[in-house]
Amino acid sequence: MDIMNIAKTYGFIYQGSEIYNGLANTWDYGPLGVELKNNIKQLWWNEFVHKEANNVGIDSSIILNPLVWQASGHVGGFSDPLIDCKNCHARFRADKLIEETDKDLIVDGWDNQKMIDYIYEHQIKCPECGALDYTPIREFNLMFSTQMGVVEDSTNTVYLRPETAQGIFINFKNIMRTTRKKLPLGVGQIGKSFRNEITPGNGIFRTREFEQMEMEVFCKPGEELAIFDYYLLKMQNFLKLIGFSENDYRIREHSKEELSHYSNRTVDIEFPFSFGWGELWGLASRTDFDLKAHQEMSKEDMSYLDPYTNEKFIPYVVEPSVGCDRLFLAILTKHYEEIEAENTNRLVLHLPKKLAPIKVTVLPLVKKLEPQAKEVFNLLSSHFNTDYDDAGKIGKRYWRQDAIGTPFCVTIDYDTLEDNCVTVRDRDTTEQQRISIDQLVNYIQMQIDNE
Ligand code: GAP
Repeated sequence: MDIMNIAKTYGFIYQGSEIYNGLANTWDYGPLGVELKNNIKQLWWNEFVHKEANNVGIDSSIILNPLVWQASGHVGGFSDPLIDCKNCHARFRADKLIEETDKDLIVDGWDNQKMIDYIYEHQIKCPECGALDYTPIREFNLMFSTQMGVVEDSTNTVYLRPETAQGIFINFKNIMRTTRKKLPLGVGQIGKSFRNEITPGNGIFRTREFEQMEMEVFCKPGEELAIFDYYLLKMQNFLKLIGFSENDYRIREHSKEELSHYSNRTVDIEFPFSFGWGELWGLASRTDFDLKAHQEMSKEDMSYLDPYTNEKFIPYVVEPSVGCDRLFLAILTKHYEEIEAENTNRLVLHLPKKLAPIKVTVLPLVKKLEPQAKEVFNLLSSHFNTDYDDAGKIGKRYWRQDAIGTPFCVTIDYDTLEDNCVTVRDRDTTEQQRISIDQLVNYIQMQIDNE
């Protein structure tokens, strides 16, 4: 199944700047897409921020003082190894070029010479033209830079944030002071990040503008690995909530060679996308690297005074970080089913009800029943995102709702005028039940809550 195509057909996603022939690898979320994305973000926020007594959220700026990115290492080291084919001038990430030829190879941690040697030893030819003649590898910084203020020179260069995490680190002192929380404390943030990726692609999997849902959990040194285990379980529980079983993903532990120099444990949760396994969600134990770096650069004291033991230390940090767009793609990939029907196949999007963009659609059997149907719509729409569809045969209307993941269709027919009941059709079973209009809101709410 071509998920991106389906998503475009039904209005989950549009190509960015489409009427101007598009802008490569940019995407807009359509009416259904924005609802699904909001539901994903709301669920994450509930689970990771609201349901943890000691967790809070923030919403920091996209443009930060450039010193933030010097301290974090992004100015000096946030780069990908870029290589060009001398014959056709196609441009690749050297590490991805190698990994494409052997899906089990993890190239993270290799230096440029090792990559070049491997490419020539294994005769990895240019995927575009077949030549084996490359430029040396150059490091390409992924941060988008721009100018702040009216004068354009290097003194006012600023960057669009490449991750939301640093906005949390630099607010650590503010958060401790204003919330009066104790460690361990988790701080969550959802927001846009920007990376000038060399090889974006696979739809919304890797883009230059994307949304992250990140949490930094600050804790006492020595407690970080227990917190790591706790969050790994929490991430798995979240995946269960969005309808993923343990067979729908795998957990990949980073080897010693692959671990960042500051990390004492990292795992990736990977998902089988249509193009192969890809990283969905990262969990990294980052020690005190970030707070220490900001303390050194800003000269602000980033330490924490434990009120119980009077110990003073720079907290360690555990970070679960997931891209909302990637999760969106994984959710569609997991939940779309193609069902063989008489002349034409039909699609059913088996989304968990709480994620469904539209919870219920009201369908008058015939247009004449509009007044009664509109009354039911008005009743439902103050509780749920409700749609109304009176065009075409009822069977086709059901199928369209199935294909966009609407869990309930409510049909108004002539009997409704007599018994004040409607027919409620279930997306997954296609079973239909007569329900009194008085009970309708309760019935739908219970089905959503009890799933
Ligand atoms: N603060 C840590 C951090 O940003 P990362 O592994 O670079 O770590 C975290 O990114 C998550 O963000 C990834 O697991 C992925 O889900 C998402 N992500 C990263 N780059 C992305 C891109 N170019 N497009 C879409 N999602 C991306």
